[in-house]
Amino acid sequence: MIPLISVRGGNRLRGEVFIGGMKNAALPILFATILLRQTVAIENLPAVTDVTTTLRILSDMGARVTWESPTAVQVNAADVDPNALPLNLTTRLRGSSYLLGAELGRFGYAVSGLPGGCDFGNRPLDQHFMIFSALGAEVVPSVGNIRLTAPGGLHGGAVRLSFPSVGATLNGILAGATADGTTMIENAAREPHIVDLANFLNACGAEISGAGTSQIRINGVKNLHGCRHRIIPDMIEAGTYLAAAAATGGHIRLRAVNPDHLEAVTDRLAAMGASIAASEDTVTLTRMLPLRGTDIETLPYPGFPTDMQPQFAPLLCLSEGGGLVYERVWENRFRYLEELRRMGANVISDGLCARFRGGDRLTGTRVCATDLRAGAALLIAGLCAEGETTISEIRHIERGYPDLIGKFRSLGAELRLVTD
Ligand code: EPZ
Repeated sequence: MIPLISVRGGNRLRGEVFIGGMKNAALPILFATILLRQTVAIENLPAVTDVTTTLRILSDMGARVTWESPTAVQVNAADVDPNALPLNLTTRLRGSSYLLGAELGRFGYAVSGLPGGCDFGNRPLDQHFMIFSALGAEVVPSVGNIRLTAPGGLHGGAVRLSFPSVGATLNGILAGATADGTTMIENAAREPHIVDLANFLNACGAEISGAGTSQIRINGVKNLHGCRHRIIPDMIEAGTYLAAAAATGGHIRLRAVNPDHLEAVTDRLAAMGASIAASEDTVTLTRMLPLRGTDIETLPYPGFPTDMQPQFAPLLCLSEGGGLVYERVWENRFRYLEELRRMGANVISDGLCARFRGGDRLTGTRVCATDLRAGAALLIAGLCAEGETTISEIRHIERGYPDLIGKFRSLGAELRLVTD
């Protein structure tokens, strides 16, 4: 039996929703526990399958994982063994590449499976390897997995990334935290989860400065100690609910968010006609005016996040005037447009840019979630469509949205899990 999400369109979203911890911060922080022999407690973990897969990888490798509550866990990685890695699980998520930096930092060698995750075309690791090599590590040729070794031990090094890669920056921090000497990363990614990993490691005794800027300095320390850390709110989950509320002409309030992280998204929503109000940890959105068209260009943080690009597509379909979307981060992140067209979207794309005509009427049909954020985009389209939309391949959506059905239903959406 195949699980599907069924959405009946037409309801305006109304009410309040709590946003969970950020998946893309939780994964590197959980893998970072490999650097420590002491117990760490991590709070505000989102209940998503990428987190449970990460915890399974760690426990299969020998870590002791104890749940304190449904969103808090204690991890002790004192007995972790890289050779016990369950290779098949690493292919389920891109974040498994953080095993490389964490294992190198702890053991001076690393083993990882080939990282999986969403399919946006080519997803190379050359920037990661450039950092590892600057720190003294080299690739050991092997089949079906990735092996690295640092024969002379890991030492500090300086590297300038050719693109501010999130993953390479995180791996550089992980490998540099306990390396001998100072590591400098130039043209580093500035995403909030880079800052969260640095804050976590600094709370464990690391000396990392400049996270959140383009230049990160890591003074390697000999030992790290345990700490308690709370994961930052998920700006992409938050942005998804805002986009959904704006698409349906709704009125919602997000709780437990960081409005600063959402600025690029709320700025575009305001340009499209939504009213936004923010307090210290809430954002309220009301959309009563017709949706206006706009253009969007995805960029590394603090630019408009590529992980919100698909969720804006239904808004552009419904808007007066439509707009252009330039995808500047991934080479192939428009695969979901084919599904959206089946719901009535008028959009053309050359793979790098999409032109939305606007003024479309969407109609429910059966569609396929081609990846995580594509699934969220189709769900938003379903909320605005006439009739019923059924979404297949929902395992992609479950990787990144905690209690998706419960949260949308609490906002008045007609959403249910069905089987085929
Ligand atoms: C992270 O992927 C996120 N994944 C992605 O979110 C997100 O889309 C992406 O950052 C950009 O914000 C996780 O955090 C697990 P990158 P990552 O390295 O680290 C090129 C989601 O929906 N590149 O910043 O893999 C690469 O091809 C997911 O939650 C190289 O060329 O992204 C891409 O064009 C999907 N060589 C660009 O850089 C490298 O060695 C950005 O990649 C590394 C990257």
